[in-house]
Amino acid sequence: MSVVIRSIASYIAPIRVTNEELAAKMDTTDEWIRSHTGIGARHFAPDGIQTSDMAASAAKSALENAKISPHDIDYVIVATATPDYFGFPATACIVQDKIGAYGAAAFDVVAGCSGFIYALDIASSMLESSHGRNALVIGADSLSRITNWEDRSTAVLFGDGAGAAVVSRIDEGARGCLSFILGADGSGAKDLYLVQPERSSAYERQAPMVPVISMNGKKVYDFAVKSIIVAIERLLHKTMYRLEDFSWIVPHQANARIVQAAAKRFSIPREKIYMNIEEFANTSAASIPIALAEMSEKGLLKANDLVMLVGFGAGLTYGAAVIRW
Ligand code: ACO
Repeated sequence: MSVVIRSIASYIAPIRVTNEELAAKMDTTDEWIRSHTGIGARHFAPDGIQTSDMAASAAKSALENAKISPHDIDYVIVATATPDYFGFPATACIVQDKIGAYGAAAFDVVAGCSGFIYALDIASSMLESSHGRNALVIGADSLSRITNWEDRSTAVLFGDGAGAAVVSRIDEGARGCLSFILGADGSGAKDLYLVQPERSSAYERQAPMVPVISMNGKKVYDFAVKSIIVAIERLLHKTMYRLEDFSWIVPHQANARIVQAAAKRFSIPREKIYMNIEEFANTSAASIPIALAEMSEKGLLKANDLVMLVGFGAGLTYGAAVIRW
């Protein structure tokens, strides 16, 4: 028995904003953003499009690609830091309704940009141990909604989008999701968190206030480089694979410099690492499935390719996975 990614698809938000366009509105430059992050553009969702809309769109495309009905889905899992409603209901429940997966259980996973890897591990374990056959694992985030546009050090980093995978239990062995490493360091919780504006009085009627991102960039940078290295070392030790065995390493697209630093530590050739940060910036939980969907569309993922996913994010969290495609 194996748990495989049967299909993958994405929703690319339609409003493309280049560095130059941002620089016309805030004190930054294309040169600074490119040299510090590798980002050239980002995509934003239009007003009225919620995280669940992007997630549902990616999910519908993934279902079409897999040629399975929403009625055959047992679990809808949405990894997101930007749910439609803070607290409840889960965005996954809204997606379940929007796609008509009425037989599915639905819940969200909150693990920042590592969310897709966390959700994939959860889905894989649930399908292995239950009678379920199929899960939709979705990473979706609308970071433009929680961006602090007064803070140029974070405002230039993020974009919106969604990626969805149909994950299925099959009877063949030794394929699909082979191994996972998950980790967290909660002492860094406030290095990347949502600041909730303070209310003057609990009894006063006030309009809801939107929380915004606060990040200690240097601390997150150091954590990111360290955690990618630790995750790769632990995964290689656990699986006994060598880096040469991998056709692709697909990292969370947060900052090209973070990935370059980790690649240098292991002498990983540039062409084995898939990067699309230049076009999409950091789409948080959506970044890895958007990258996988793009690779799949380009025909870069061949049957039996060994693929490593590796990510880090708010929490602080990190995760890595080995998949036999
Ligand atoms: N445009 C121009 N100048 C800027 C900008 C900007 N957008 N932002 C900051 N600067 C300036 C600063 O003011 C500072 O100026 P000063 O020297 O005059 O004080 C200078 O650039 C250097 O600032 P640093 O913060 O030291 O820049 P650094 O090289 O550390 O890069 C960055 C900042 C890109 C944020 C980096 O720290 C980083 O990538 N950190 C990790 C971020 C990350 O990966 N976050 C995602 C986590 S995943 C999740 O869960 C969402």
